Amino acid sequence: MEQQIKITTTSDSKLKDIDFDNIPLGKAFTDHMFICDYEDGAWQNPRIEPLEFIPTHPAAMALHYGQAIFEGMKATVGKDNTPLLFRPEENAKRFNHSAARMGMPSVPEELFVEAVKQIVGVEYGWIPPQEGSALYLRPFMYADEPFIGMRAATSYKFIVICSPAGPFFTKKIRLYAETKYIRAADGGTGEAKAAGNYAAAILPTEKAKAKGYDQVLWLDANEHKYIQEVGTMNIFFKVDGKFITPSTNGSILKGITRDSVITLLKDKGFEVVERPITIDEVIEFSKEGKLEEAFGTGTAVAIAMIEAIGYNEELITLPDTNPVSQDMKNTLDEIKAQKREDKHGWITPVS
Ligand code: COI
Repeated sequence: MEQQIKITTTSDSKLKDIDFDNIPLGKAFTDHMFICDYEDGAWQNPRIEPLEFIPTHPAAMALHYGQAIFEGMKATVGKDNTPLLFRPEENAKRFNHSAARMGMPSVPEELFVEAVKQIVGVEYGWIPPQEGSALYLRPFMYADEPFIGMRAATSYKFIVICSPAGPFFTKKIRLYAETKYIRAADGGTGEAKAAGNYAAAILPTEKAKAKGYDQVLWLDANEHKYIQEVGTMNIFFKVDGKFITPSTNGSILKGITRDSVITLLKDKGFEVVERPITIDEVIEFSKEGKLEEAFGTGTAVAIAMIEAIGYNEELITLPDTNPVSQDMKNTLDEIKAQKREDKHGWITPVS
């Protein structure tokens, strides 16, 4: 890499205060962060420093116009306590795909991966050893130029923070198929991991929770029929022995866990069909007794099994047993712990 990452460490670690058996996602942060500035058309001064508040000008453009993107990744420990990353190059590529859609500069893939590796190298004592737990990594970029006019900003920060995390959803989830609010429309930002997509999802999710559901099942913007995603995850249905997942169409995040699960399902001999699928079809499959399992996939959650889906007056209930979903969850956990062969070369050890 052209620029060296300068590392300044703290002597006052908070690691001793962490109970690895009780770590809700996103509440505890490690001692350090990676930070890099985009100025004068180039990324400058990559460094790892003690984590602290960042002085922000009140006119920073991200605060007003939302030029902000992020990634989710996990570091785990493998054999001989080696820290491991899962497909980090894929996150680097997706980050730049999001950046391009939001009119933001790209981060060289090499810098992205090196930043993540080095922060994990510094914080590796924070990786929870329990299988299914991990150090959640949050690379993000935002426009920090103070300017009220509306255009692409000229200065940005690229930061990586880390948060130890236990298993996310420990129970099955109930979904509310949303027919009023939407997550993404053709030509919009649905495929980008842009902060605004998540902001727009907050109110509908709170409303769904008030009705007794856990997450929103997002439907398309035009007909409110085609299934897109679930909460912050991609979705899979097992129908009559084979799997169906909505094809990515510009409005659906190209999940790295989604892609990995498609590969793992095919490894196990399942047919996986990527195609548009409507909520009416899912109701029909359920009525015919063909709907066998459904689950969400995402970095934070890995696999979230689905219990029921509410749609208008209907409630689709899924069978109690989820053998394939559970198998996918175990397989991913075991690959990430180097307890199972990594035959697709997904694991990157951090040396
Ligand atoms: C992830 O799975 O990494 C996500 O982005 C979900 C996050 C919003 C909790």
